[in-house]
Amino acid sequence: MSTAPNTLPAEQQADSKPEQRERARVVLIGTGSRAEMYVQAALGDHSSSVELVAISDTNPGRVQYYLARAVELSPATAVTQFQPQDLTRFIRDNRIDRVIVTTPDYTHADYIVEALEAGADVVVEKPLTIDAEGCHRISDAIDRTGRDVVVTFNYRYSPRNSALKEIIQSGAIGSVTSIDFSWMLDTVHGADYFRRWHRQKENSGGLLIHKASHHFDLVNWWIDDVPERVFASGGLRFYGDRNAAGRGLTDRPERGTTDSAAGDPFALDLREDERLNALYYANEHHDGYQRDQDVFAPGITIEDNLALVVDYAGGPTLSYSLNAHSPWEGYRVAVNGTQGRVELEVVERAAVSNSTEQKNVVDPSATPVEEDDAVRVNGERLILQRHWEAAVEVPIVNGEGGHGGGDALLLTDLFEGPGEDPLGRPSGYLDGLRAVAVGIAGNASLESSLPVRISELGLGADLTERTELTDRAESNDRTESKENRRG
Ligand SMILES: NC(=O)c1ccc[n+]([C@@H]2O[C@H](COP(=O)([O-])OP(=O)(O)OC[C@H]3O[C@@H](n4cnc5c(N)ncnc54)[C@H](O)[C@@H]3O)[C@@H](O)[C@H]2O)c1
Repeated sequence: MSTAPNTLPAEQQADSKPEQRERARVVLIGTGSRAEMYVQAALGDHSSSVELVAISDTNPGRVQYYLARAVELSPATAVTQFQPQDLTRFIRDNRIDRVIVTTPDYTHADYIVEALEAGADVVVEKPLTIDAEGCHRISDAIDRTGRDVVVTFNYRYSPRNSALKEIIQSGAIGSVTSIDFSWMLDTVHGADYFRRWHRQKENSGGLLIHKASHHFDLVNWWIDDVPERVFASGGLRFYGDRNAAGRGLTDRPERGTTDSAAGDPFALDLREDERLNALYYANEHHDGYQRDQDVFAPGITIEDNLALVVDYAGGPTLSYSLNAHSPWEGYRVAVNGTQGRVELEVVERAAVSNSTEQKNVVDPSATPVEEDDAVRVNGERLILQRHWEAAVEVPIVNGEGGHGGGDALLLTDLFEGPGEDPLGRPSGYLDGLRAVAVGIAGNASLESSLPVRISELGLGADLTERTELTDRAESNDRTESKENRRG
């Protein structure tokens, strides 16, 4: 990869391309691994709708990595950079329409509020934020500024998840009465949440926020209902120093990128992966961020086993569990209704290899893997069974690219504007709030050992006041009025 020959000042770029002013001018903050999808889309498939003006990060090495990437992806486009503390000034001076936030979860609320107040809309990676105080501040800022926040829920667009929505929405199982949902993260992907910033609750809110907000959003959207009350139980039972000591795992290397960790199935050696090496290992000297810490080290404050009961306003109950040290990765969901039941079973990695020859990809949901064992086979199965009828398998039609083609659909909605979608996949800020609300209530319940009512959390907005349909209608109105303003 070449280094970026950096560019015109952003002010001049704005003035030098009058014919392109109708493109949305965006900046991205947080140039870690998640940034790749947005940078690629903005400089590739969606470059006629969106102009990536600048990127920013606290780590100058990762900014340089993406400036070079930008040159690779679109040599003719001049992408510049700014310091994170200059976000407000940069938005105002450069007439930025939208800020894409891909920083760690605990920073989301600050950047969202700052961007809204400076006059830009926001696209933020899940989770919206990690606690009730963050939700309140974001809700207030949206009310104050009238601006828009979109939380990107790419799982909705995964064809199998869309197919399940379609069945429920069609009425084939009648009215939903309950949902049983379990998610298994394996000893490679699950372990990854225990290697870096996610492993401290004050950074990520724990897996109930960081990971399960995807899952809670799916349920909220699948059944088109609003969560009301949560009871949670769980703990750290596998990773962490105490569990390791209990199992006789002592004297462990502090990190994976060291020769003494060779052959350790829990070690991630950043030198073995070109991208991880360039993005993280090569840039540690700037900020000390180590991407590969030992999962059995002291100081881990998040849970690895979680179980929840969630009551929905419309009546259904969700029973949910998350395990982060499973021997296989995937999920099972069953939705019961007054006229039948629908079940989705997904195996993303049937077995984790413990061989030093065969490398395990970190996230099998993003990079499909093929190592099936004899009993469990990678794949997906959607089964509908109506009362008094035999079960039928419902076909799932996958597309090209990440998450069965789902990422491409998400990016189109995001950058070209949400089209008419009978499944209501484009998500608004209230969807983001409803998803984290379950995790925030779950964390409160873990602390108190009592059920927690979401309405008592002080999130700054009434989750039941609007449905996703009104959200979408409003978002379309906003797009229209913005276009009118521009026109
Ligand atoms: N939707 C999905 O499937 C999905 C997948 C992965 C990550 N994510 C989300 O994307 C976000 C980023 O995750 P990631 O894996 O890329 O993390 P990462 O650690 O790889 O990248 C985060 C980047 O933010 C920078 N940063 C840290 N603090 C900052 C600050 N205060 N200001 C500016 N920059 C700062 C870091 O230097 C780093 O480059 C998270 O919110 C995560 O939940 C979503």
